[in-house]
Amino acid sequence: MTTTEHESPTAVGSGTAATDKFKNERVSADTSPERVAAIARDALSALHKVILDHNVTYPEYRVLKQWLIDVGEGGEWPLFLDVFIEHAVEEVLARSRKGTKGSIEGPYYVADAPELPSVCTLPMREVDTKETPLVFSGQVTDLDGKGIGGAIVELWHADADGYYSQFADHLPEWNLRGKIITDGEGRYQVTTIQPAPYQIPTDGPTGAFIAAQNGHPWRPAHLHLIVSAPEHESVTTQLYFDGGEWLDSDVASATKPELVLRPTSGDDGINRVTYDFVLDPAAG
Ligand code: BEZ
Ligand code: FE
Repeated sequence: MTTTEHESPTAVGSGTAATDKFKNERVSADTSPERVAAIARDALSALHKVILDHNVTYPEYRVLKQWLIDVGEGGEWPLFLDVFIEHAVEEVLARSRKGTKGSIEGPYYVADAPELPSVCTLPMREVDTKETPLVFSGQVTDLDGKGIGGAIVELWHADADGYYSQFADHLPEWNLRGKIITDGEGRYQVTTIQPAPYQIPTDGPTGAFIAAQNGHPWRPAHLHLIVSAPEHESVTTQLYFDGGEWLDSDVASATKPELVLRPTSGDDGINRVTYDFVLDPAAG
């Protein structure tokens, strides 16, 4: 057992929660039928090439079918796609951005977190207060360095055991999640705890896929953020910690050198770090 005594969340438990959340969002995209057809054609060609290059057999094809069924039944599509595919989509978005570098959102974002003032503490349990406190502060500006008052710094992260609230039954709703509203100069200061590295659930089909490649299931410790303000493009990103384990081999391929924090640890046992966010103007 870890910091607290509880049943470990299972892949099927957190996967199903992630799938249910995604299904409720009812997404759509403004994509022309021609573009859909071209992408579908190229995706199939790429897959056919892999099958032909590797002489894939019928038994292997049937194992693939079974595995795809297992991913769906385990509710693991959000997990699998966000680990192995999302970083490429984010790379496309990054081509048109000048401000703060983005990173993947991952499957554990939940909208409508509690709003908090510019100087605040994230909602946390009593047991979380025993972890290393992290005071994270900075400013949100535009591309010219002008502070943006009333910007929203939405922050969510795993606890010291690597679990996210709303995706693990033993955690209270909104634990380590909040929307911080910047002051008139765009400044914020939030107290939270140092997150731990996060392990992709290993007991389901995504875990089996990782093991089949002799890979490891770890993401480095990270903070998730969505920073937004009227008339600006919002940025979805993550911040990592210098020297952190798995920083050079993130299973989700989502780290960038510009997104690495270097906190100082004070004599009072508190880690402190600043990070400024720069927002692009709204497109069009
Ligand atoms: C995460 O950042 O927590 C995450 C990203 C991709 C897949 C699973 C988790
Ligand atoms: Fe995460």
